[in-house]
Amino acid sequence: MNTNMISNISNADLETLFDRSKPFFQLMTYYGCALREVETKFQVLNDEFKLNYDRNPIESIKSRIKSPRSILEKLERKGISIDPENIVGSIERIENSIYDIAGIRVICSFPEDIYKIAEQFTSQDDVTLIRKKDYILDPKENGYRSLHLIVEIPVFFSAGKRYVKAEVQLRTIAMDFWASLDHKLKYKKDVSDQEYIAAELRKCADIINETDYRMQELRKLIEK
Ligand code: GTP
Ligand code: MG
Repeated sequence: MNTNMISNISNADLETLFDRSKPFFQLMTYYGCALREVETKFQVLNDEFKLNYDRNPIESIKSRIKSPRSILEKLERKGISIDPENIVGSIERIENSIYDIAGIRVICSFPEDIYKIAEQFTSQDDVTLIRKKDYILDPKENGYRSLHLIVEIPVFFSAGKRYVKAEVQLRTIAMDFWASLDHKLKYKKDVSDQEYIAAELRKCADIINETDYRMQELRKLIEK
């Protein structure tokens, strides 16, 4: 297919293409099931932590399935050509080249909670860690901080189990606050403005990081 095509397809046409692709919807259902399993694992860890330490390390959990359009656009960016008229024939290629179709964001109270929860999650024997990126230890140039995990978990269906990949992003409330404003910068048109905003965001990222760790130390003093 012509790789400039995806953005030219109208929403209605895109919907028609996917409507004809039952296996694609099956695949999306598998991702939806995987999301619920991963979410439950984090909820269980949160409940147990509360029992042991009398506080919740997880503030909130958000999950999403990547939209068909975003999946096609990402494939296009990665130079993986698939024929939108034959999505069925491309299911395996989609599964093997995009790992964040199922995405879950775990918002923690303090930085050390992120590592504790991530360790407890990845050491479960049905969770396989595929890739880890620690943008807290090694922040992005723009100041972005989060711990990213790509994992694979088995989901049990009537015909047997199926391994499904998911992306987990763990960050503090403050890092999440920063990331959501940073995300909006992507859509900002005025370029000169953009430079100023990016520089300010960079400074805020450092302030937020320092505050996260100072708050963590304060909590320890309060709990002593
Ligand atoms: P993608 O192709 O975007 O998935 O990038 P990648 O495979 O190199 O993974 P990476 O871990 O860098 O980023 C994955 C996801 O993390 C993105 O889709 C965003 O949700 C989030 N993310 C990464 N960098 C930034 C950033 O600078 N700002 C914000 N707001 N989010 C980011
Ligand atoms: Mg992504």
